[in-house]
Amino acid sequence: MKKIAILTGATGGLGREFLKQILKEEIDEVWAVARNEQKLSELRKEYGERVIPMSIDLSELQGIRQIKNMLDKNKPQVVYLINNAGLAKMGKYKDFHIEEIDKMINVNCKAPVMLAQICIPYMGKGSKILNISSASAFQPNPYINLYAASKVFERSYSRALNVELEETGIKSTAVCPGWIDTELLQKEINGKKVRFPGLVTPDRVVKQAIKDAKKGKDMSVCSMYVKCQHVNVKLLPQRLVMKIWMAGIGKYLKEN
Ligand SMILES: NC(=O)c1ccc[n+]([C@@H]2O[C@H](COP(=O)([O-])OP(=O)(O)OC[C@H]3O[C@@H](n4cnc5c(N)ncnc54)[C@H](OP(=O)(O)O)[C@@H]3O)[C@@H](O)[C@H]2O)c1
Repeated sequence: MKKIAILTGATGGLGREFLKQILKEEIDEVWAVARNEQKLSELRKEYGERVIPMSIDLSELQGIRQIKNMLDKNKPQVVYLINNAGLAKMGKYKDFHIEEIDKMINVNCKAPVMLAQICIPYMGKGSKILNISSASAFQPNPYINLYAASKVFERSYSRALNVELEETGIKSTAVCPGWIDTELLQKEINGKKVRFPGLVTPDRVVKQAIKDAKKGKDMSVCSMYVKCQHVNVKLLPQRLVMKIWMAGIGKYLKEN
């Protein structure tokens, strides 16, 4: 029986690093999921035939069904499910159209749950689910309110699932990084260069996430900066936490 990893968002900043590090493990194939076919075939060229490119739109139910059909046909042992694909946009609530809202909730919330649901029957003792949430899950964040709320969903789902899976030996880890240097970040807003406090590189986040998942931790927090942030937002009233957040981002919201 083939041992596989399913990695979503494989073509993005964090995804490429997950791919690189997961290929060091005893895994026959990594099913690399994203929409962009060209980027996926570049990954296969770079990392070899163990990478199985799967050009799939995770915002569509049909995309999830495609992965289920592949599982039912090949009946592999799923060693890792890494729910990493994610969408983010900064802006005022009124700048979001409903199609965008639908897509973000589908990719950030529905897809990880549905993928876990179809993969668990192919998992066993020692298998791992990594749900890439965010430090945005620790507090409400105006102007990325939907993104942050979707990450609360992912973190909460992941931790509760981990308890439900206790008897199976499968572990579910919510990965909650702060700012990571990837294409997801809007580097300039209203002509102003954005500062990302505590910015880390993808390799650091991935290394810590895999280490924590192997230890069976239900949450992975990478840097000391984010660990302190996690404690602070637990101790302070949420209204104050949001004021501090607004003081940090306010200057980017003002147009020149
Ligand atoms: N960067 C940060 O500061 C940060 C901080 C905390 C948490 N995170 C989380 O880390 C994860 C990875 O983020 P990243 O920074 O690596 O972002 P990224 O570079 O923008 O990559 C996003 C990935 O998701 C895929 N994706 C987007 N929409 C999709 C869809 N409809 N169907 C299938 N795949 C889709 C993209 O591929 P295609 O476009 O080809 O589909 C890409 O591979 C996300 O869940 C994000 O929320 C990021």
